Amino acid sequence: MLIRSAPDLKDCDVTDEGLYLRRREFITAGTALGAALALGAGEAGAAPLAHSPNKMPIDEKPTPLKDIAGYNNFYEFGTNKDDPAAHAGTLRARPWTVTVDGLCKKPGRIAIDDLVKRFPLEERIYRMRCVEAWSMVIPWVGFPLASLIGQAEPTGQARYVAFETLYDPQQMPGQRDRVIDWPYREGLRMDEAMNPLALLAVGLYGETLPNQDGAPIRLVTPWKYGFKGIKSIVRISFVASPPKTSWNLLAPNEYGFYGNVNPEVDHPRWSQASERRIGEFFRRKTLPFNGYGEQVAAMYRGMDPAKLF
Ligand code: MTE
Repeated sequence: MLIRSAPDLKDCDVTDEGLYLRRREFITAGTALGAALALGAGEAGAAPLAHSPNKMPIDEKPTPLKDIAGYNNFYEFGTNKDDPAAHAGTLRARPWTVTVDGLCKKPGRIAIDDLVKRFPLEERIYRMRCVEAWSMVIPWVGFPLASLIGQAEPTGQARYVAFETLYDPQQMPGQRDRVIDWPYREGLRMDEAMNPLALLAVGLYGETLPNQDGAPIRLVTPWKYGFKGIKSIVRISFVASPPKTSWNLLAPNEYGFYGNVNPEVDHPRWSQASERRIGEFFRRKTLPFNGYGEQVAAMYRGMDPAKLF
């Protein structure tokens, strides 16, 4: 990620959290739609998503919506943190088709609205840690990646899952610059993809995703650095070997395939020992696997932790 000085961030936790806690009322009143549009969520705007309540509570306050939808990395819309909110309105998140292919018994193409109906949606409030040493707490709405994999029935040869973002420079003007070898690509090992924490998110704060956060569907792996969370996915493929991933292709010594949060392994240009939670003043210590070690550490036993960045 190209590092620039962070713009002035203002904290308005009180208002946003208040709105979040009153979200049912808020949704009924239709105010959410207005708020999302004001945040540049695109022409379609945000729509409420029916979902079950959060089953994995964490004792940390969700980051205000204005920051989650206003401070983003989405190079398809520019490399500054405020570019995606300003420019992602050109992305048409509907109609949208996701292709599932490769080494599986049930490949197919599915329209996003059918995909959303196919699996029960749940809220998952996750701690998110960006490789640039800032973090947020995001109330995602989505379904486990494992549910989709289960339906696709990967064959025994499928050892990895590869993901691809839309390539369409008309909708994604940042793709006219070759900062990245487009389309943006990511991948997971099969056991990581099957981990119950891995989520395909279709919403946040109870509504469809703002375009700038990866509408209509993006990956969320909270034990990994944010770059693994590929946005606006159009293809999910089952493959036999480790897939090429965008940041690893660009700077292999800085961004590994695994991208697991590890406070003990510095980025070549800065420390990963602490982070700045967006909206907070004091830095906090970064936790191994971003605090999700209990759920994920066993997958990496026997591997050299220094290779897991
Ligand atoms: N996905 C695509 N297609 N393009 C991107 O530039 N940036 C990644 C990831 N997914 C990126 C992407 C990075 S570096 C981060 S930190 C997260 O998205 C940021 O997600 P957020 O903006 O929703 O917080």
